[in-house]
Amino acid sequence: MRIVMVGSGYVGLVSGACMADFGHNVTCVDKSVDKIDALNAGKVPIYEPGLETIIDHNRAAGRLHFSKELAGPVADADVIFIAVGTPARRGDGHADLSYVYAATREIAAAVTHFTVLVTKSTVPVGTGDEIERICREEFPEKDIVVVSNPEFLREGAAIIDFKRPDRIVIGTEEPRAIEIMREVYRPLYLNEAPLFFCERRTSELIKYAANAFLAMKISFINEMADLCEMLGTDVQKLAKGIGMDKRIGDKFLHAGPGYGGSCFPKDTLALVKTAQDHNSSLRLIETTVAINENRKRAMGRKVIAACDGSVRGKKIALLGLTFKPNTDDMRDAPSISIIQALQDGGADVHAYDPEGMDAARQLLGDVTYGNDAYEIADAADAIVLVTEWDEFRALDFRRLKLCMKTPILVDLRNIYPASEVKRHGFVYFSIGKKA
Ligand code: UGA
Repeated sequence: MRIVMVGSGYVGLVSGACMADFGHNVTCVDKSVDKIDALNAGKVPIYEPGLETIIDHNRAAGRLHFSKELAGPVADADVIFIAVGTPARRGDGHADLSYVYAATREIAAAVTHFTVLVTKSTVPVGTGDEIERICREEFPEKDIVVVSNPEFLREGAAIIDFKRPDRIVIGTEEPRAIEIMREVYRPLYLNEAPLFFCERRTSELIKYAANAFLAMKISFINEMADLCEMLGTDVQKLAKGIGMDKRIGDKFLHAGPGYGGSCFPKDTLALVKTAQDHNSSLRLIETTVAINENRKRAMGRKVIAACDGSVRGKKIALLGLTFKPNTDDMRDAPSISIIQALQDGGADVHAYDPEGMDAARQLLGDVTYGNDAYEIADAADAIVLVTEWDEFRALDFRRLKLCMKTPILVDLRNIYPASEVKRHGFVYFSIGKKA
């Protein structure tokens, strides 16, 4: 099967590489000359565990190709995926679909025979209809079926999510497209991953509703964490206690500094806008968004409170900057708001992140970066654990205590038992527990 992936960003690259790994012949196309040159030189532009190995292996096997040119690969393809970006439009929060429609026109112009055109990008309900309209009205001689197939992979766990998904959602009712899509995912089907076919608009909405529901779970547990702090109860035990009920489930109930990344913030906002455009209200999601924005700002205040109410002239060391571990992605990371609040309060901010410092340098001013946790903790007035990278899970507290000015740890991911940290003479603050 010949597959073209248009857009070699996060989703396109991971999906393309994994499909090649299934044995399909895949060409990933991108307009960025630098990106394609880098990929053809064996360099992977994003940090994702396991991705480089899969790319190397499949390039060597001749199944995975990277191209700046779209027309040639598209003319030969059985199925073409659109995986270009859909950033939040400046000003109104709507998903910006200009890249999707530009790609549609370029693809449709190059198609030579019956082709299935699949949107993998996260797109609002009705986008498939518009793509179909463009194809039908502007390229009436072309035989193209438009399908929705949203992606549910998580950064940092993308390969495993792609290869062992809970489900594959496919929005089409066209028999020829159903057959082709079954063929694309046949290797996963054999792994017993359920293929869920539905109408195209429903498939588009499933993607947004899934992300919004997960974001809502996080905002729920974060609010419960605040209540736990007031009541002197423990949010981790609370999450466990409710999560054991299978109707609730134990996933996405980790209280923390708020959700970030390229998906939840953008998709919740876009879903709210869609609802508003259709005179429907999504008050739960609107509130989820507001809680999360407040949450990120409140974390800066929490650190300041832990430092006796002032960080003026104090050295604060941040462990972790990315929105979650195993990624170099800084988009909407809680660390951005936290650093802003600390700097507004007069703090001297030092930071270390295993993968995110290059991206952080582009975004943050006046931060001093170090090479590891101990370097930035030297003479610090407090350390703040912002992202739960593995290498922060077994810190040498004896060493930290010796080098820090005051032994204060603010653990925004609840990765340490209070007793262990306090045993080493630290003042310990966590989330959703009595200080
Ligand atoms: C999310 C979804 O989990 C994927 O299913 C989806 O495909 C993806 O968005 C997307 O739309 O492309 P991702 O943003 O990579 O994936 O990361 P998550 O693991 O979902 O984490 C998002 C944020 O929520 C992070 O900031 C994380 O720290 C936070 N989070 C997650 C919590 O604060 N608590 C939790 O219990 C779980």
